[in-house]
Amino acid sequence: MEKLLEFQNLGKDQPSKEDQELLLSLPRVKSWDYPFLYQYQGFWLPSQFFHGVINFQKHFQAKDSDIILATFPKSGATWLKPLVFTIMNRASSTLEHSPLLSTFSHNLIPFLEIMIYTRYKTFSILDDLPTPRILATHVAYTSLPPSIINSNCRIVYLCRNPLDVFISHWHFSPSVRDVPMETPLSLDEAFEICCQGVQSFGPVWDHELGYWNASLEKSHKILFLKFEDMKENTAFHVKKLADFLGCPFTEEEETQGVIQEISKFCSFENMKKLQVHQTGIQAPTGLQNKIFFRNGKVGDWTNHLTPSMSERFQKLMEEKLGESGLMMTFSQSSEVRKETE
Ligand code: A3P
Repeated sequence: MEKLLEFQNLGKDQPSKEDQELLLSLPRVKSWDYPFLYQYQGFWLPSQFFHGVINFQKHFQAKDSDIILATFPKSGATWLKPLVFTIMNRASSTLEHSPLLSTFSHNLIPFLEIMIYTRYKTFSILDDLPTPRILATHVAYTSLPPSIINSNCRIVYLCRNPLDVFISHWHFSPSVRDVPMETPLSLDEAFEICCQGVQSFGPVWDHELGYWNASLEKSHKILFLKFEDMKENTAFHVKKLADFLGCPFTEEEETQGVIQEISKFCSFENMKKLQVHQTGIQAPTGLQNKIFFRNGKVGDWTNHLTPSMSERFQKLMEEKLGESGLMMTFSQSSEVRKETE
């Protein structure tokens, strides 16, 4: 793991001339989360991730034992990573000595296109990682490197209702833009753009549907989870994850309450209060770890969007998801934004 931490001190590489030319040839739109997004293979990417996506596609070689955690941005990767890390490493590390107590999960389980493949010098780190490697991505299913699709590696996809994703991203994006917005947009203006599918790695419905459809075809390879279901019954999903990852809980572990302990350890409340998440900073981006822990609730969108905005979006989702069988849970909290606000 130390190697992974070291790579953060290496600066980003410059994109090749070829990558830059390709980027400039792509359709471009103004967005609400980044000043511009570029449409690559049907999905909108900020320029700062483009280079990493291309390198990831060209160079990543999956191993059959790999575990890939895939998410649309702001769907809860910061929750899925500690859960999977703890489940997989429970034989070698007790919760009291968990590396998660001192190291942010995004450093233990790096995003391939964002953290590894934007830095050429770090590619080789992947070869040195212990098996099974646990890695993460935001890349859409149809844009994954062929070796992920064709190998026996396993994928866990965490899906979240797009209204909570939008609100989460709305709060998060000012902290991560590489260039500030010339004219910052209002929430309502941003929502309009989001309804057109424009946001980084969007359209969100195509991202979620891509993994959903693939999970139906290859259920042994892809586990499709929903943030809202996991909130409702975390222990059930911890067990499900362990079964899927090939390290089921023993009867003894179940009796001893290990599943509940892991659920509690990785809970929003526990993770948020850890010192590493309160004060830690990610080198070299300078991002504060605490911005990844806002409120971790289902239905916070009701505090920001009017009922007519949400109705419009939910109708749009119904159209987009069509007969796929994928259903979203848009549970509401008690506070609802009034139409007139
Ligand atoms: P909110 O902004 O709605 O609070 P990602 O990790 O994909 O960037 O997603 C971040 C979202 O996951 C944030 O949502 C964050 O608060 C939430 N989150 C982080 N850790 C969590 C946990 N342990 N349990 C539930 N939600 C969590």
